Amino acid sequence: MTFTIAIDGPAGAGKGTLARRLADHYRLNLLDTGLTYRAVAHALIQHALPLDNVSAAETAARQVDLAKLDRAVLSAHAVGEAASKVAVYPTVRRILVEKQRDFAKTPPGAVLDGRDIGTVVCPDADIKLYVTASAEVRAQRRLAEIESIGGSANFSEILADIVRRDERDMGRADSPLKPATDAHLLDTSEMAIEAAFLAAKAIIDDALAKRDKV
Ligand code: C5P
Repeated sequence: MTFTIAIDGPAGAGKGTLARRLADHYRLNLLDTGLTYRAVAHALIQHALPLDNVSAAETAARQVDLAKLDRAVLSAHAVGEAASKVAVYPTVRRILVEKQRDFAKTPPGAVLDGRDIGTVVCPDADIKLYVTASAEVRAQRRLAEIESIGGSANFSEILADIVRRDERDMGRADSPLKPATDAHLLDTSEMAIEAAFLAAKAIIDDALAKRDKV
């Protein structure tokens, strides 16, 4: 029997950190599905191909190897922007979703985070969390992250980027970002990661206790 935790939400809401904490705590596999879309975008950029070259994006999607996703390379801001452009193509999504589902089925189960995990990839997930925070808080966190590694950035530009990415992810026709009807909502605007972890843990432990009773 596998156990699946689906975590969705907009960019910068803290779902990546939360997913890592939960995977460690419950000893589950972990997949940041954003990296799969980033890998496709990165392959196109590397070959100087336009992001709307759907057949090249499909080929790149087929070549994505979940065991070889290089976060250091793929985490660049520009790659995230580009990922949200290739993520609108249904055929690209289908190829990646299949790989993500296979990953989720591998024992003992997994924590997957992304935009459509609870709605499309794992609609039968044991636990669904939808993690949000206001756009301003997410921009502030991103700014602090950039500054903590010695970089500098402009708050209003970051905020504009975040709002644009939200619109693209929530507005697309195929698998738009939205909470599954049975998702637990976690607003981290005024919550530190530890508090978000404890809130998620309470929800999951409750579900596990009920499951053990049946
Ligand atoms: O989460 P991350 O910022 O790495 O995701 C990059 C982009 O990939 C998102 O803006 C979104 O467009 C796309 N994505 C998606 N479905 C997922 C994960 C990410 O469409 N499950």
